[in-house]
Amino acid sequence: MSKTFNYRQKVAILGDSGVGKTCLVNRLVFNMYINYTNPTIGAAFASYVVNDDFIYEIWDTAGQERFHSLLPMYLRHTDIIFIVIDINQNIEDINKQFIKWFSYVKNNNNLLNKDYKICLFFNKLDTNKYFQVPEDILNNKEISFINLISAKTGYNIYKIKSTLDTLAKIHMETTQPNIQNNNGSIYDLDNVIKKIKLKCIP
Ligand code: GTP
Repeated sequence: MSKTFNYRQKVAILGDSGVGKTCLVNRLVFNMYINYTNPTIGAAFASYVVNDDFIYEIWDTAGQERFHSLLPMYLRHTDIIFIVIDINQNIEDINKQFIKWFSYVKNNNNLLNKDYKICLFFNKLDTNKYFQVPEDILNNKEISFINLISAKTGYNIYKIKSTLDTLAKIHMETTQPNIQNNNGSIYDLDNVIKKIKLKCIP
């Protein structure tokens, strides 16, 4: 029997081939890790349900260059962008990869929903626990959430879940402007995002 959800948001995952986008989805949605995954063809779809009434529709896009012309199709009406970067590269390549995907999002922001958010994940932390996020990236104010993760071990995946839970809650409360939170005040969105970011910077 199909279930209807009164609230939904769309998430699109971007990043080079092999950075671990599919493994991240598998960990987030099914809490599992498969060591050898085939490259994604076009895109894959998964859903993440926060509560009975809210669903995230997740598009895991293909990182291979030959599928890039398809990306705009998956970005349309997206609310949350995940950019995934593999930490197993030198810092110049990490910066290059970040700029490439960040610029891609900015250049296509006409496709995205208003108030879209960008979350950045540095994956494969299990291979280098001393990795540090480059300062320029850390100071980028247009990134709502930055985290070091490992899809393999599940490290910090709970932080992604807790962020998605919070964003879902904000969405539900702000799309019903008359409903107030427990303190009797309407959420200050910018403030909440700042708090999430502060809390989650590694
Ligand atoms: P495309 O589908 O080509 O875009 O690649 P992708 O970004 O979806 O990469 P995928 O999830 O298929 O992961 C590629 C490989 O990276 C996997 O086969 C895993 O072996 C490895 N991998 C993914 N996540 C991790 C991680 O957290 N740690 C380690 N050590 N390896 C990982």
